[in-house]
Amino acid sequence: MKKEFTVTPWEVSGNVDYERLIKEFGVTLIDANMRYKLVKTHPLLRRGLYFSHRDFDLWLERAEKGKKISVITGRGPSDKMHIGHLVPFLVAKSLQEQFDCEVFIPISDDEKFYVKEEVTFEKVLAYAQDNILDIIALGFKRGKTYIFEDFVYTNIYTYAAQIAKRITYSTSKAVFGLKPEDNVGWSFYPAMQAAHILFPQFLRGKHLSVVPVAIDQDPFIRVTRDISTHKDFQFEKPAALHSKFMPSLDGGAKMSASDTTSKVIYLSDNLEEVKKKINKYAFSGGKDTIEDHRKHGGNPDIDVSFQYLRYLFEPDDQKLGKIESDYRSGKLLTSELKSILIEKIFLFLKEHQKRKEQAKRNVEKFILK
Ligand code: TRP
Repeated sequence: MKKEFTVTPWEVSGNVDYERLIKEFGVTLIDANMRYKLVKTHPLLRRGLYFSHRDFDLWLERAEKGKKISVITGRGPSDKMHIGHLVPFLVAKSLQEQFDCEVFIPISDDEKFYVKEEVTFEKVLAYAQDNILDIIALGFKRGKTYIFEDFVYTNIYTYAAQIAKRITYSTSKAVFGLKPEDNVGWSFYPAMQAAHILFPQFLRGKHLSVVPVAIDQDPFIRVTRDISTHKDFQFEKPAALHSKFMPSLDGGAKMSASDTTSKVIYLSDNLEEVKKKINKYAFSGGKDTIEDHRKHGGNPDIDVSFQYLRYLFEPDDQKLGKIESDYRSGKLLTSELKSILIEKIFLFLKEHQKRKEQAKRNVEKFILK
């Protein structure tokens, strides 16, 4: 039978069946027990956009015992950042706040340079600088957060080379589905990302790291876990936390930067742009007419504005619960729901843009040399 969806590091499309992915990838569902331990963390974790993991129970156990742990997650800088790109970083920050751990943030400019024809060397370097400021603006702890860019922190190559020696071409091909016409950068890159993931252990010695990522990145985790215990390294298998994809404004599978500009909210958008995009494009779970909506109510489960509030912009459980029940009952109209979201996004972006300006003065304190 033909698959109705595709999830690889290079392509996400169709209607993603997450239960099937859990089985195919052999990952573990985040259960109620684990969720209970995460009640103080970011809504993305406690409200379930993160849905599966590898060994995160072990990571939590170590964290609770005060053992050495770390977090690593990265960014491929092929465009300016939009709100969907914040997902793994908000979770990394939340884990840092709760467990006071170090966070490592690799910027894979080489990855995007290899795989995207339109991304030139100059462009990728410029986006990297811009994206780094957005990441710092989120408020990571200084002195506990290390950002490094593959084309700048070239020391990472020495680790990637040790790893590349232990990844066969056939593994790279099987795991990443390389095609004959792909350049050889694609086949080497997995060694780079494995070096990122093991970097905290290269630097600080053997310990457990967790990698929060969208589920499409799991192939990298698999390859890295496989080689991590090789006698050359004798590291711990890194743990992982997997998220579903944040829907694009129109309700599509993934909020991809290569989507048309209208479908995403950029971190640089102003109020007018936010208003226009949400009002015009945000997929609604409301009814077509006000009468119908009042009578039958809307469906928050498929409503993109509600999903953005749920996962990113309304951390207060009571307030979110009220919005949800009012929408379901028809008391709250789609236009009103959208206004709530617009206001929240506007306040967030205003603050973010200010912090991004300030980040320009502190950037050196986060960059690994
Ligand atoms: N490949 C990731 C992406 O395209 C970015 C990334 C680079 C990353 N290095 C990483 C993610 C290490 C997690 C861990 O989004």
